[in-house]
Amino acid sequence: MSVNLRVVTLFTVVLCLLGFSAFSEKIVIAHRGASGYVNEHTLAAYAMAYGMGADYIEQDLGMTRDGVLICMHDRTLERTSNVAEVFPDRKRENGKYYPEDFTLAEIKSLRAVESVPMRFPRALRLFQMVTFEEAIQLIQGLNTSTGRDVGIYPELKDAGSYEKAGLPFLQTFLDVLSRYGYEGPDAKVYVQCFSSGILKQLREEYQCTLPLIQLMSSDMVEKADMKEVAAYAQGIGPDKKAIDKDPTVVARAHEAGLKVHPYTFRADAYSSKYKNVNEEMELFLFTYDIDGGFTDHPDVMRQVIDAGKK
Ligand code: G3P
Ligand code: CA
Repeated sequence: MSVNLRVVTLFTVVLCLLGFSAFSEKIVIAHRGASGYVNEHTLAAYAMAYGMGADYIEQDLGMTRDGVLICMHDRTLERTSNVAEVFPDRKRENGKYYPEDFTLAEIKSLRAVESVPMRFPRALRLFQMVTFEEAIQLIQGLNTSTGRDVGIYPELKDAGSYEKAGLPFLQTFLDVLSRYGYEGPDAKVYVQCFSSGILKQLREEYQCTLPLIQLMSSDMVEKADMKEVAAYAQGIGPDKKAIDKDPTVVARAHEAGLKVHPYTFRADAYSSKYKNVNEEMELFLFTYDIDGGFTDHPDVMRQVIDAGKK
């Protein structure tokens, strides 16, 4: 066991003995829905994540030519849809299909396609692509019918690029959130972005008071000044590899008042140093003391967190 890991373990044990619960309020964030089981960013993936006990469900966002926010991870459509089959002539010179070259009606004529081998069968084309509003309606509808209060966790991955293309991405995003009641610091939403510029723009130019999460690659984590991040964000979303390398990242973030939600835990892709993803999740949640994590398999993280409470 490294010195860093020993210090973190000792600190966690002491906190537990003092009565602080290392297990409280740890959240399961369904990464692109229950994407380990069914096509990412589909209503099926979101509903499955909800049923598996996720606390928050993630939506990565893109935008159509007619200014509608849609749920998709990549900057372009070809990995996760059948766009190349339906619109073979609409690719750009680089061979890629950009959502802002399509109307919502055209996007709705596509079908989701699984891109990860050994997951949902690639040949099955059961699901449409989803708008951000549809994702919210589904989650809020399920909140009504179940009495739970599951949140949303949208990512503005390519906001700057859409704005440069002349689309009102940020204002539309905030308008949609406001229309569905997501306003102020206690709203059941975390807004995540890798760009500190976009997050600061939301705070300063748009006067957004929603909870913000600064996503970080491993390189960004190493260079991060947590106090500086805490001036505009409520938490960090680091690559989990950065915490594996230096678990004191979590304490540094906590000392600055930041939540820590690393990405991405997968039952079918974890480091060989772990027996399985359960063991990896347990270490991160209860020894490194993260506040929650992104996972493609929300049922597994739910089970690990609930078992830790007992
Ligand atoms: O948003 C957290 C995590 O999802 C970042 O990675 O590429 O899956 O969006 P990515
Ligand atoms: Ca994401």
